[in-house]
Amino acid sequence: MKLAVIGTGYVGLVSGVCFAHKGNEVICVDLEQYKIDMLNRAESPIYEPGIEDLISLNLEAGRLEFTSDLADAVRRSDIVILAVGTPSLANGEANLSYIEQAAADVGKAMNGYKIIMTKSTVPVGTNEKIKGVLAQHTNLSFDIVSAPEFLREGSAINDTLHPDRVIIGLDNEGLRETMVTLHQVFTDKIYVTDIRSAEMIKYASNAFLATKISFINEIANICEKVGADVTCVADGMGMDKRIGSSFLQAGIGYGGSCFPKDTNALIQIAGNVDYEFKLLKSVVEVNTDQRFMIVSKLRESLGQLHGVPIGIWGLAFKPNTDDIREAPALEIVETLIQAGAIVKLYDPIAMNKFKERVDHPNIVWCSSPQQAAEGSDAVCLLTDWEEFKKVDLVQLASLLHKPVLIDGRNIFTEDQIQSSGLEYYSVGRPR
Ligand code: UGA
Repeated sequence: MKLAVIGTGYVGLVSGVCFAHKGNEVICVDLEQYKIDMLNRAESPIYEPGIEDLISLNLEAGRLEFTSDLADAVRRSDIVILAVGTPSLANGEANLSYIEQAAADVGKAMNGYKIIMTKSTVPVGTNEKIKGVLAQHTNLSFDIVSAPEFLREGSAINDTLHPDRVIIGLDNEGLRETMVTLHQVFTDKIYVTDIRSAEMIKYASNAFLATKISFINEIANICEKVGADVTCVADGMGMDKRIGSSFLQAGIGYGGSCFPKDTNALIQIAGNVDYEFKLLKSVVEVNTDQRFMIVSKLRESLGQLHGVPIGIWGLAFKPNTDDIREAPALEIVETLIQAGAIVKLYDPIAMNKFKERVDHPNIVWCSSPQQAAEGSDAVCLLTDWEEFKKVDLVQLASLLHKPVLIDGRNIFTEDQIQSSGLEYYSVGRPR
């Protein structure tokens, strides 16, 4: 099939490349010419393991194109995928201006019947709005499909090529076969429903995963007080198939461009129809509090933080990405700076993105975990990068001025710690 994908962020680029990889002819569109120039050289504007190889392979095979000419891409395609951003507005609602503009541009460019498929995360009812916008700009016929995306940054290609399920929302049964054919190259588990339910499945799924994380974080906080170990509790809970073991890793809370944005948007969506989503409001509140647990543990161990050097390991919101959007590290570093601490920052790949957002004389930018630790009164681990799991903890204890390690992601085992001589704090586990 011939596809145009509007937007080359995580969702658009990864979906476009994976559709091409499965034999479709795909034209990816972005209005930012520098991104198109990079992509045409098989360089990715986003950090995602494996993406550049896949771009290069499909460019060479002639199945993949990149352009800033939206109208031409639409005219040469049967299906147009909308994958532009829907960032949060100040009140938590999703900003739909980019997707509405994209729909208007698609409508103006249409030269015949098209299927318009939305992959961006959009509030319930948005696809109907998009239909209205398209109809304002074209007299030609079209259909709308909601196909929310469930890929995770850092494992986006694998998630797209081998998804747990594909959700399709449509209001014209005649499209079912085309949509199943397009997606069954990835999986047989294709659930077809109405458009509003498909839109809701995306928000409900992200909200549920965020709820699991905040739930286990609260259990962790209680474990600390009653002398239980949250990792054992999560293992034991996860063995029950009804609960499942994933997303039960206690830590400093969730970040990223999805959970914080989508939980707030769902609270707003409910509020707009006079429903208070009390459970989800608490999930968000617990997540915010959890970030500051690190700072409380530092104070507990070191007392006052003014003038105290503290190493920070990990700035990205999770490993295998350079994304720092809503990363817990942003607020934690800011709080430490406000307390007068000297923060020595290290991340394997997110340093540049962090530098663009945060700058302060109290920051020391480091080029290795050891440099961030040397002479510091403590190290706080904020992202569970593989690199940190391999650090020699005996050497770490000797580099630190005071041998304090605060592990915000529970990556070290008791055995590793015991022989290290470190004063170790983790989340919801006995020290
Ligand atoms: C999330 C969803 O997992 C995807 O299914 C969805 O497609 C995506 O949002 C989206 O809406 O686009 P992502 O934000 O890339 O994906 O990352 P996750 O792997 O879900 O992690 C989110 C945050 O939760 C990270 O900060 C991570 O450290 C944290 N987390 C995750 C925990 O604290 N504990 C866990 O057990 C799991």
